[in-house]
Amino acid sequence: MLCTRLAREELTAAFAQVASSVSVVTTVTDDDVPVGATVGSLTSVSLDPPLVLVCLSSTMFLPTAIARRGRFAVSVLSAGERDMAERFAGLTPGVRDRFEGVAARRDRSGMPVLPGSVAWLGCELWATYDGGDHRIVVGQVGHLRRWPGRDPLLRHDRGWVSVDSRAAHNGPREGGDGPGPRGRRSRQMWLAWPT
Ligand SMILES: Cc1cc2nc3c(=O)[nH]c(=O)nc-3n(C[C@H](O)[C@H](O)[C@H](O)COP(=O)(O)O)c2cc1C
Repeated sequence: MLCTRLAREELTAAFAQVASSVSVVTTVTDDDVPVGATVGSLTSVSLDPPLVLVCLSSTMFLPTAIARRGRFAVSVLSAGERDMAERFAGLTPGVRDRFEGVAARRDRSGMPVLPGSVAWLGCELWATYDGGDHRIVVGQVGHLRRWPGRDPLLRHDRGWVSVDSRAAHNGPREGGDGPGPRGRRSRQMWLAWPT
């Protein structure tokens, strides 16, 4: 059990060193009102059946809404969608309705999905598990769309990071270690954590 403030700060700082994708998990309420939150916890779990998981804070309404609806969608954000990530994390001052003014669409299951994504995953709820102060929500992917030409938005060390994914992964490697000339990140953008 982590008791001290210092231990908690150390832990969150260590977790912040784990680079992650940035996605917005969405569902709708009983009244068909969209709800959603930014997550860095998206993980692929299984190919057969096709499963993914997200860890959602138990203090949020979202895991309850997903359990009631039995469905959710994941919009995996692209590099240009930092504003969207902040908005759906509740970090944009003055925003009460996160979907207001956002050109969200509905997927074929009626789940909200966001523009400017690198992928959409439409999920049926598979299982939820106790994850301490979070719920581990596993979904079976029923349909998806993807935009491979778009660069992903990443999170690392409490900053936003974007890389040119094609330059980062497709280049030849010299000597086996490290990226070669074309393998080097061609663009890297570090942006300050919003205050
Ligand atoms: C980059 C980033 C990643 C996040 N990842 C998660 C996550 O995986 N799980 C989670 O519960 N909250 C995560 N959050 C925080 C939630 O987005 C935030 O607490 C939530 O939107 C607050 O919603 P509420 O105002 O309805 O409580 C993340 C925030 C950011 C900025």
